[in-house]
Amino acid sequence: SVFDNPATASVNVARRIAGIIRDKQEKQEKAVIGLATGATPVAVYAELVRMHREENLSFYNVVSFNLDEYYPMQPDAAQSYVTFMKENLFNHIDIPAENIHIPDGTLPLEEIPAFCLNYERRIGEYGGLDMQILGIGRTGHIGFNEPGSAPNSGTRLVTLDDLTRRDAARDFGGKAFVPAKAITMGIGTIFKAREIILMAWNQKKASIIKKAVEGEISSDVPATYLQLSDNVEFILDQDAASLL
Ligand code: GLP
Repeated sequence: SVFDNPATASVNVARRIAGIIRDKQEKQEKAVIGLATGATPVAVYAELVRMHREENLSFYNVVSFNLDEYYPMQPDAAQSYVTFMKENLFNHIDIPAENIHIPDGTLPLEEIPAFCLNYERRIGEYGGLDMQILGIGRTGHIGFNEPGSAPNSGTRLVTLDDLTRRDAARDFGGKAFVPAKAITMGIGTIFKAREIILMAWNQKKASIIKKAVEGEISSDVPATYLQLSDNVEFILDQDAASLL
């Protein structure tokens, strides 16, 4: 769907997340939500915080799994996705701390494979993701699944693309300070979610959105794999949709 602006689109996505949460509360079940970072979902999280404050939306039954984290990364660093999630969402809502999952950027290399398998196992134990929200990087990455990622890939350590590190340079005070790697859910992990929402705003995303939606399905643009799923919806503003 194409919305007039990012604000109305973000409210729409927040309402759908809140709908799942309330639905599950009625059934006394947990809502298992896959979360994303970056500028794109910030207004979604702001709307969820507003609903918590003004509309009694509780997150007591929410279990969250974040898509990715830089590696190496200390959780209390300003650029960590842990800090991002606390500042934009978790510090302002009543989600139980033990329900929050974010890949651990502090692990020694040799412990990462077991951690990643366990991340997949935890998602499975909760019955899988009810919804996964996504942004998109200019390389066509979802999560940090850069070009070359396999469609059945799972959670793993990956090397960041040069363009991704250039785009992150501002947050880190220069590209040289952007970590070379990240731990990310895989394309296969994302695909298992019962609903997937990919959001994109602004002109600078228009050409990658055109490739993702209309381009040939290929590992060169990992987001093109989403064309293979029936559970995906692209939520765009006019600018991001302008080349479609
Ligand atoms: C990072 C994140 C992605 C995100 C992308 C786009 O690379 N790992 O999950 O989609 O940035 O970021 P932005 O929303 O700031 O454009």
